[in-house]
Amino acid sequence: MADRRNRVCLAPSLLSADLVALASEIEQSEQSGADAFHIDVMDGHFVPNISFGPSWLDAVHRTTTLPLDVHLMIESPMRYLESFARAGGTTLVFHLEATTEPEALVQRARDLGVGVGIAIRPETPVEKIEPYLGTIDELIVMSVHPGFSGQKFLPDSISKIRAAREAIHRSHRDVELSVDGGINRETARESVAAGATFLVCGNSVFSHGRIQENLRELRAASDKGWGERSEVL
Ligand code: DX5
Ligand code: ZN
Repeated sequence: MADRRNRVCLAPSLLSADLVALASEIEQSEQSGADAFHIDVMDGHFVPNISFGPSWLDAVHRTTTLPLDVHLMIESPMRYLESFARAGGTTLVFHLEATTEPEALVQRARDLGVGVGIAIRPETPVEKIEPYLGTIDELIVMSVHPGFSGQKFLPDSISKIRAAREAIHRSHRDVELSVDGGINRETARESVAAGATFLVCGNSVFSHGRIQENLRELRAASDKGWGERSEVL
């Protein structure tokens, strides 16, 4: 991922982009300081919505050189890792709740030569992820119930981000701590102050056709949060 140890990685979520103007939305985001793109893959089973598949990811991959953070909100993620790796995913993130074999999924991603992450729903406590922190590149703390963009940030997520930051600290591994759902200027600042290093931003980037201004404001908010991080981090 981008050089994020001095600052936070901002990843526009393409689910909220104007899909008719996707190439232009991607280009504007890049020019406005996006560090990566977040791709939401939904299968209509693990979540009550259907979105993008490997061929769509491949099209995005041909449009940008930025890292592609692929959020697999699907059942049976093992069946699809190879397709999303071949389609250009930089980091493939599966849901802990969608599998009984997280170690095997991590190994498969490694064999495919891509980064690997685990996402947890709002109901899943941080302790459940702790055994895997020594082997993964990214942890996504969902701050909304997965399935749709434009939802409100769940306030309990802040203490969860803090707990996740402490667990990562204990793991002695440089795991990206991502927050996904309901990020706006206020929740961006609070999430970063609590220890997030990667913000997924859907509506807050693509709403009102103001990509440049939106990203500038989110950057300022996350920089502010960065300055408020506690010594423990
Ligand atoms: C929700 C998705 C999110 C979503 C974020 O299930 O995982 O990535 O696109 O959109 P906003 O930022 O609008 O909540
Ligand atoms: Zn997502």
